[in-house]
Amino acid sequence: MKHNSDYIDKVLERNAPSAGGGFSEEGLKRAEALIALYPKKRSALIPLCHLAQGEHGWITEECIEEIAGLLGVSPAEVSGTASFYDMLHLEPVGQYVISVCTNIACMLAGAYELLEAAEEKLGIAAGQTDTDMRFTLEEAECLGACDTAPCLQVNSRFFGPMNSASFDKLITDLASGALAGVVPPHGVLSRVERVFALTAKDTDDAGAIDSKEAGQK
Ligand code: FES
Repeated sequence: MKHNSDYIDKVLERNAPSAGGGFSEEGLKRAEALIALYPKKRSALIPLCHLAQGEHGWITEECIEEIAGLLGVSPAEVSGTASFYDMLHLEPVGQYVISVCTNIACMLAGAYELLEAAEEKLGIAAGQTDTDMRFTLEEAECLGACDTAPCLQVNSRFFGPMNSASFDKLITDLASGALAGVVPPHGVLSRVERVFALTAKDTDDAGAIDSKEAGQK
């Protein structure tokens, strides 16, 4: 696995979302570097939200305040923008965010049966996180991997076609750490996710799909 800096190494070492807190010292340096890329500071709002999520697994209240201060906008503007996007979380989520696609191609291939099996296996309903903060289950719109329907996404990795048996195996492998090199922690920076996707095998035993084939940009 290759990635670009000690900072990213540290982000990847995170194995569970934090309960809260602001940016780390290194995170603040990266925030300032990101802001410098834009003619207007406020254009860095979403990149800074991703940065916060990369550090904590979600966008903490402290990070919202810090982002607002760095960009010269109100905290309400930061949280209002972040709340618009499904991929940004304003409350703690599990180490693994599992998004089951129930859009048309997946629905016709058994997505709702898969979602029901996932709810039963994890003991939570879609939209909930288990008590160990290990898994969050979501229902998702088209993931752009219709050719592998029914499919799902775990953090930045796609898996499909799935059924209840392969879902059980996926959960077992995630819980045991067998997929630690394939599925990055939730919230890691998009360029790290791309590195994971590009270096993982096209299809592994658990059914992970190369993100290029699945249409991930
Ligand atoms: S409909 Fe499920 S990935 Fe497109």
